[in-house]
Amino acid sequence: MENVVLFGFMGAGKTVVGKEVARKLCMEFVDMDDIIEEKEGCSISEIFAEKGEKHFREVESEAARSLSRREGLVIATGGGVVLDRKNVDALQLSGAGICLTASPEVIYERVKNESHRPLLLTDNPLKRIRSLLRYRAPFYAKVKYRIDTSDLPAESVVENILGIVKKDREISAATRSRGGENADLKS
Ligand code: S3P
Repeated sequence: MENVVLFGFMGAGKTVVGKEVARKLCMEFVDMDDIIEEKEGCSISEIFAEKGEKHFREVESEAARSLSRREGLVIATGGGVVLDRKNVDALQLSGAGICLTASPEVIYERVKNESHRPLLLTDNPLKRIRSLLRYRAPFYAKVKYRIDTSDLPAESVVENILGIVKKDREISAATRSRGGENADLKS
C-alpha cells in the first residue's frame, strides 16, 4: 500500500493529524524526528547543539531514504526535510505527498509554549518563523497537494487528507490499469 507523506512547517499539525489519519486508514504512523532521535540516541535539540544542523540534515536524509523504501506508512516529516529536493522526490515516489500550511501568526500561537525546536529558540520566534517560511516557500511548493490548516480544526484537516488520499489512490489505480492495457498492446 502506498504511503501518505505529510510535509509542512513546524507547528503545521503533521504529528497530531498524522496519527489520526493512520488510525482511520489502519496504517502505521511514523514520525521522522522520532526515528532520527532513536538512531542518534539523543534529542533533536542535542543533535543540533552537539553535532550541528548539517549533521542533523544528513541523518534526516538517511531517514527519508529508508522510509521511502517502506510501504503502508503515514509519515510525519520534519519541517526542514524539503530543503533537499532528493528527500521530497523519494518520499513522494512512495506515496501521496501533502503539505500542511498555516500563517506565521497561527504557527507562532501553536509553538510558542514549546521548547524542543532549536530553530525557534530565538529572541523573536515570530520573526524567525516569517523568514524561514519565506525562504522555504519554493521548497514546500514541490509537494503535490496542500491544505491550509490556519482556520481548520484537526478533524477537518484529517477529513481533507482522507479525501486527497482516496482521490490519489484512484488516480494511481487508473494509471496502473492504463499502463497494463498499453503493456498488453505492446506484447
Ligand atoms: C525542523 C523541524 C522539526 C525538527 C527540527 C528541524 C525544521 O520538526 O525536524 O527541529 O527545520 O523545520 P517538526 O516540523 O516536526 O517540528
